[in-house]
Amino acid sequence: MLASMARSSHPIVAAIYDAAMSLQDMAGLRPQRLRATHAARGRVLEVGVGTGWNLRFYRNADEVVGVDPDPHMLARARGRLDEAPCPATLVEGDGQALPFDDASFDTVVSSLSLCTILDPAAALREIHRVLRPGGQLVFLEHTRSPRPRLARLQNRITPLWRRVAGGCHPNRPTVDTIAQQRFEVTSLWRSGGGRGVIVQGTAQRR
Ligand SMILES: C[S@@+](CC[C@H](N)C(=O)[O-])C[C@H]1O[C@@H](n2cnc3c(N)ncnc32)[C@H](O)[C@@H]1O
Repeated sequence: MLASMARSSHPIVAAIYDAAMSLQDMAGLRPQRLRATHAARGRVLEVGVGTGWNLRFYRNADEVVGVDPDPHMLARARGRLDEAPCPATLVEGDGQALPFDDASFDTVVSSLSLCTILDPAAALREIHRVLRPGGQLVFLEHTRSPRPRLARLQNRITPLWRRVAGGCHPNRPTVDTIAQQRFEVTSLWRSGGGRGVIVQGTAQRR
């Protein structure tokens, strides 16, 4: 399993990640994080759990499992397990080949992860597989701008941004990709009154 798994090792990103998230949350991301995590119910999987920044917010979940391929991120997340309001575990694994049984989760959360996973369509197929029928994908993502000029700028900066930001792609049309992988988008909020790049929503497994 580990031999074929996506390799991810970003010690510097892991070291500065929480400081960057504090700034982003202060800049307005926190309410969307709370909406996303509070929507997660039952047995919950967070794909790309990172440093476990969200773990403390899963107040409506029965259990949370976090998966991530980066050992530096996971080492930090381990220090947060006690902050979760429900039983929480971490697994080193790849979102494109999830090490879980079919239909074994009620909710899967992707929080700023579909921008980083190399093949987001493959990850969404795996998310679909591990969700029970009728289960929910909850997402919080930054995406390709609906403004053409900004989208072109995002395209231009993506090669450099990927290198400095742990593989993050700022130019992905993630909501479209979700809808193309047998999910029905059931709620969608977009920043900037519908013209921004941050999206938060839910999608039901078809
Ligand atoms: C921007 S961080 C998001 C962390 C956390 N979910 C949050 O909301 O703060 C993206 C995470 O995706 C992880 N990641 C990268 N490739 C992945 C893959 N193939 N499968 C699962 N997670 C992956 C990275 O290691 C990183 O921890």
